Amino acid sequence: MTMRLSLLVSLAFFALYGVIVVQSSSPEDWFDWVVSYGTISPFGVPKKVIMINNEFPGPLINSTTNNVVHVNVHNNLDEPFLFTWNGVQMRRNSWNDGVQGTNCPIMPGKNWTYYFQMKDQIGSFFYYPSVNFQRAAGGYGPIRINNRDVIPIPFPFPRDDFDILISDWFDKDYQEMRNDLDAGNTVLPSPDGVLINGKPSKSLHFNFEPGKTYRLRISNVGVKTTLSFRIQGHDLILIETEGSYTLKKNYTSLDIHPGQSYSVLVTADVPGTFSYNMIACTRFVSPVLCTLATVDYTGSTPALASSRPCSAHSPLSTTLARMGCLLIRSSSLMALGPGILMWDLDVGAARPNPQGSYHYGQINVTRTIVLQNEMAVIDNHTRYTVNGISFVYSNTPLKLADYFRVPNVFFTNLTKDRPDGQTLMISTPVIDALYRDFIQIVFQNKEDTVQTWHVDGYNFFVVGMGFGEWDESKRSEYNLKDAVWRTNTQVYPNGWTAVWISLDNMGMWSIRSMNEERRYLGQEVYIRVRGEDPMRLPDPRDEMPIPNDLPLCGRALPLWYHV
Ligand SMILES: *[C@@H]1O[C@H](CO)[C@@H](O)[C@H](O)[C@H]1NC(C)=O
Ligand SMILES: *[C@@H]1O[C@H](CO)[C@@H](O)[C@H](O)[C@H]1NC(C)=O
Ligand SMILES: *[C@@H]1O[C@H](CO)[C@@H](O)[C@H](O)[C@H]1NC(C)=O
Ligand SMILES: *[C@@H]1O[C@H](CO)[C@@H](O)[C@H](O)[C@H]1NC(C)=O
Ligand SMILES: *[C@@H]1O[C@H](CO)[C@@H](O)[C@H](O)[C@H]1NC(C)=O
Ligand SMILES: *[C@@H]1O[C@H](CO)[C@@H](O)[C@H](O)[C@H]1NC(C)=O
Repeated sequence: MTMRLSLLVSLAFFALYGVIVVQSSSPEDWFDWVVSYGTISPFGVPKKVIMINNEFPGPLINSTTNNVVHVNVHNNLDEPFLFTWNGVQMRRNSWNDGVQGTNCPIMPGKNWTYYFQMKDQIGSFFYYPSVNFQRAAGGYGPIRINNRDVIPIPFPFPRDDFDILISDWFDKDYQEMRNDLDAGNTVLPSPDGVLINGKPSKSLHFNFEPGKTYRLRISNVGVKTTLSFRIQGHDLILIETEGSYTLKKNYTSLDIHPGQSYSVLVTADVPGTFSYNMIACTRFVSPVLCTLATVDYTGSTPALASSRPCSAHSPLSTTLARMGCLLIRSSSLMALGPGILMWDLDVGAARPNPQGSYHYGQINVTRTIVLQNEMAVIDNHTRYTVNGISFVYSNTPLKLADYFRVPNVFFTNLTKDRPDGQTLMISTPVIDALYRDFIQIVFQNKEDTVQTWHVDGYNFFVVGMGFGEWDESKRSEYNLKDAVWRTNTQVYPNGWTAVWISLDNMGMWSIRSMNEERRYLGQEVYIRVRGEDPMRLPDPRDEMPIPNDLPLCGRALPLWYHV
């Protein structure tokens, strides 16, 4: 019955479009993953975590530009589950984005196969569970999109690549944390520790061959805490972030905000001792917590690494310390131009043409949307808002509601392009936007903590960052030449970050805080990127037809059987 139905449906689509969009000329990567619970006790307290094929963290997706990836996910948890592919652009394919606004979760005991192409992308990313606050239980893993052989990389080929996933850690069970948030009267406490690749201090060793250079792909996969990363005695040469090559720059330490990924080159060229600490520490919270891994030079007897992990970082609990930190940050911000990082204009990334051949600075911005984050108390519950609206999910994914024209699931009339300072509500807003428009989003942070924002389906140019209130005059300070093109940006306390986006990817896309506590409590909004006529089905060259094995749920379910 199901077979016949799906056959009919695919025939219907075939008849409708007259074409099938063939991607099968590209190499394919297949993964078969069983998602289940396991227990780990990194700091002595056992905690239920999410494992993939009994691994924690989960396996590497090692793919290449334009490859087609299939991930068959078997949900052996006792609750619904979804993965999302943080930073993979999912071109024409929000159907497989794996967030609650696009997909029905995979139910316990069921499986579903994600299908997406690494279209025109390179870089370092990660995946993680996107629903039910499961991100606080792990379930994450690294994604690499390697260059095709014909595209050279703009640095000497490293001896090896290492994926390094750093995260905050909470001893508390994720379901209890979720209940606390649902109860609305608490915010999460400071983390209980920091993990590197799922391990606590001194349990992880990396071997470097003396004289050789390694590429480290570092992602902050944690729930909410900014982390600093460094390797004792070694420079980190930044080369890539979230799919674009940066101008190479030396760092002794990198601040990595939740959701962000960076590639750095590290050369094993320090004379003297042969063991060094790799150090990840919390930032902007008190007390500062750190975790160490060890880098051992091969062919030498490992000496004891010195253990002064965090002398460089004072607890930033007081306003003064925080100010001091920000002043340093802001002067370097001004010295280097907005966004701190700059694109390497001269190199090719996924395609042979140089990154700088796309002159984003000369394109006219057709629309500016200011998204202002705030904390609010609504009905005695702690909530977080965007332009006064705290996002809640309905049980029908927005993408399916849009496709099947189910009314009153989401509302395109709520989020205004400017915050009005009056609105305060809990609802399900969607920003309506036109395919191929070129827009600006300004993230305006009204709070005194660092925020991180992410847009699914897109990379954006980080053209400006500053303190205070954004207004049109800030444009004179923008970097319109070589701003970095990425998918997550930080927004400094009481500051703003302006990003420019070419809306060239049709679909329903999540714009969200990468602080999972804030996202869970409402700091999210969707953007529907559609053709001029919302009643017309998109051309499959602009958006893939609905996959015929897509799980359905909510109010999208009964309608299906009337197709
Ligand atoms: C990842 O894929 C690349 C390109 O196919 C290959 O050279 C490399 O060895 C792979 N790495 C791992 C860890 O599988
Ligand atoms: C579920 O997994 C089986 C094999 O384990 C596979 O044959 C089937 O296609 C999968 N179903 C979906 C909907 O992906
Ligand atoms: C980074 O610093 C090291 C010395 O500390 C120097 O040899 C190297 O050239 C620098 N690299 C860049 C890209 O600035
Ligand atoms: C941008 O707008 C200006 C003035 O409205 C116009 O002169 C210019 O041609 C436009 N540029 C592009 C690339 O459309
Ligand atoms: C909110 O909390 C206060 C104090 O705890 C209580 O007096 C009040 O009745 C609550 N209001 C609602 C709407 O629950
Ligand atoms: C938005 O539209 C809905 C109907 O789709 C309507 O009920 C609601 O009142 C509108 N809200 C505003 C603020 O205009």
